[in-house]
Amino acid sequence: MDSKSLNRNLNKANKAKKDEFYTQLTDIEKELRHYKKQFKGKVVYCNCDDPYESNFFKYFASNFNALGLKKLITTSYSGSPITGKQLSLLEMEGLKPEGKQPFKIEITKVPDENTDGAINLTDVEWLLKRDGNVSAPLKANGDFRSKECIELLKESDIVVTNPPFSLFRDYVAQLIEYNKKFLILGDQNAITYKEIFKLIKDNKLWFGYDNGGIKWFQVPKDYDIPTESRKKIVDGVKYLSMGRINWFTNLDTTKRYHELTLYKKFIPEEFPKYDNYNVVNVDRVSDIPMDYYGVMGVPITFVDKYNPEQFEILGIANSARWIDFKCLTIIKGKRIYNRVLIKQKYENRTK
Ligand SMILES: C[S@@+](CC[C@H](N)C(=O)[O-])C[C@H]1O[C@@H](n2cnc3c(N)ncnc32)[C@H](O)[C@@H]1O
Repeated sequence: MDSKSLNRNLNKANKAKKDEFYTQLTDIEKELRHYKKQFKGKVVYCNCDDPYESNFFKYFASNFNALGLKKLITTSYSGSPITGKQLSLLEMEGLKPEGKQPFKIEITKVPDENTDGAINLTDVEWLLKRDGNVSAPLKANGDFRSKECIELLKESDIVVTNPPFSLFRDYVAQLIEYNKKFLILGDQNAITYKEIFKLIKDNKLWFGYDNGGIKWFQVPKDYDIPTESRKKIVDGVKYLSMGRINWFTNLDTTKRYHELTLYKKFIPEEFPKYDNYNVVNVDRVSDIPMDYYGVMGVPITFVDKYNPEQFEILGIANSARWIDFKCLTIIKGKRIYNRVLIKQKYENRTK
């Protein structure tokens, strides 16, 4: 192998290794509480998700009856370094099958034995012994693009997971291709990808509720975290903190209908235009002027406040490239970071 290909392979391996961080139950609960009604009678699929380690699995299995789910499907991936090894997210020592074989678990019944509505789910083995529930090795490697996983995807109504960030474009493209509802975690910056941006612009994808803050993810012990402030170890378990991790969804949210309150008046000196474009720069979403009806470049955090009745998204740009609306964000030679190009909707002009 020449050194170029070797480097490429190493890069790929490093990137894949970086995909190994695991979502905490509290983060899942915080987001999922907003969508309860939309899950009734639905088949939920958590792919890219080792059922023996996943808090997504734990959340949906524990809340199976409360949400009124029809079925829960979870599949793992042989490429994950925790397959067959104990990361011990769910404290189920000894239960996890050994070896690199990925698994699928299908749940259709979660008995509430003492009928108090509460289900204690530390014991997946107990759950799997119930009629109607299945745990079986997958035939292939559990890749979300494999035929086997696509068949499970077709059977499902809503996909909920934290997919590999390195494959985010392909992952979302597949959900759209199969016309699925979804609620997934991703890096906020993914909205600057051409394919993802187009979905946002076309109102086929938007942000969920719990965005912007810092989230802590459990990582395997050998996960390299060079920045001390982004690392913590609690009871021997290693966590990585990540900012800018958002929920991406096409499930209905109430926040999409909230109008962003604008209070600032447009004063030309406060909102300079980009050097070669008739577009004004706005440095903070809260400063969007209420009485300006031309095109504005706003920070990408705007998407979290976007109400399609109030604004129109025209494009996205930085100082070197643009998508859909020709504009580069340079003011008097100074380069401005990513900006979403927006304009207030006509019907709001009279307000
Ligand atoms: C960010 S982690 C999240 C794991 C889990 N969903 C969670 O949130 O706790 C993404 C997972 O996707 C797995 N993965 C990577 N490439 C994959 C692929 N092509 N198909 C399926 N899973 C994949 C990784 O091994 C990793 O375990």
